[in-house]
Amino acid sequence: MEFIDLKAQYRALKSEIDANIQAVLDAGQFIGGAYVEALEEKLAAYVGRKHCIACGNGTDALQAAYMALGVGAGDAVFCPDVTFISSVEPAYMLGAVPVFCDISPDSYNLDPASLERQVRAVLAEGRLTPKAVVAVDFLGNPCDYDAIEAVCEKYGLLLLEDAAQSTGASYKGRMCGSFGIVSTTSFFPAKTLGCYGDGGAIFTDDDLLAAWMRSICVHGKGPGGKYDNVRVGFNSRLDNLQAAILLPKLDALARHEIRDRQAAAQRYAAGLSGAFPLPPVPAQGQHSWYQYTLLAEDSGQRERIIRRLDEEGIPTNIYYPTPQHALPVFRGLASYGETFPHATDYCSRTFSIPMHPYLDETQQEKVIRALREAL
Ligand SMILES: Cc1ncc(COP(=O)(O)O)c(C=O)c1O
Repeated sequence: MEFIDLKAQYRALKSEIDANIQAVLDAGQFIGGAYVEALEEKLAAYVGRKHCIACGNGTDALQAAYMALGVGAGDAVFCPDVTFISSVEPAYMLGAVPVFCDISPDSYNLDPASLERQVRAVLAEGRLTPKAVVAVDFLGNPCDYDAIEAVCEKYGLLLLEDAAQSTGASYKGRMCGSFGIVSTTSFFPAKTLGCYGDGGAIFTDDDLLAAWMRSICVHGKGPGGKYDNVRVGFNSRLDNLQAAILLPKLDALARHEIRDRQAAAQRYAAGLSGAFPLPPVPAQGQHSWYQYTLLAEDSGQRERIIRRLDEEGIPTNIYYPTPQHALPVFRGLASYGETFPHATDYCSRTFSIPMHPYLDETQQEKVIRALREAL
């Protein structure tokens, strides 16, 4: 059994993907090109943003956003304690200080109350300027944007949405990838919209920021092109080949894959309810079901369950074993009085089971039976 079955997806979309790859090879246009332009246009329309800038990966997308927003030395960037390091790593690299906030046990997302406590603690200390919040739609579950935006407005903070895990999800009728001044996503192969290598995208409605981020991704190019460098940037472009692969995948995502992920999540919920705490579902929105994640009673039980599933040939993964504040790279940072009880508890008990749009009922029954037996 596959944890995320990219081979099944390729079999379903083979004729379109193969034809597009061949067309790129025939045209000999590899950096930029018609497929990249078409993808940017379609993705902007899909998430409901004015601009989409395709780039090399989701981490670069965040770096370009932090750079364009002027995040740097002396700034505090507020980040949920449970995420992938990329959410805040580029801000740290630019000289800003990550300030972690606890997650809510009801969503596993950034807890707006912890965010406000941390902002106030940073202001009280007076060493850093509270600058930006990076909200992560963790595992595909959209954040509580009403509450987070209210805190951002109250304290004059820039909001970034890290939608790396939530392409296809929505909150109150708005697609993920459309929140905050800038939002970003990743096309890492396992993501809900993944390519066959690395890729990412940046979204914004702001014309000036869009122009800056496009420039930053091509060595700070100016109006005269890439040899007219007007600012410091870097090199981060999506290959035409990857865009050619992503276009039929975006179509499949919008047509049926998100719906099929919902159906698979419902089957798991029906089979596992009462046995495990089920993953939180958005009260007013749609999950992308990037992952289907359960909680064991404790880390010992989690180990036993994972071992048992492994014996049955069922793969599992842990997203993520360590809260950000406890990672060796961040251990020296100030915690501003936050003790992260929910993040710590979540990381010690979480494990994810196979989830993708091509999962069939027989496979899911096997997973459900193995999980129940493991208890
Ligand atoms: C929440 C989150 N942010 C950012 C990234 C970075 O994306 P990439 O791997 O494309 O750089 C990832 C990818 O794993 C992610 O899960």
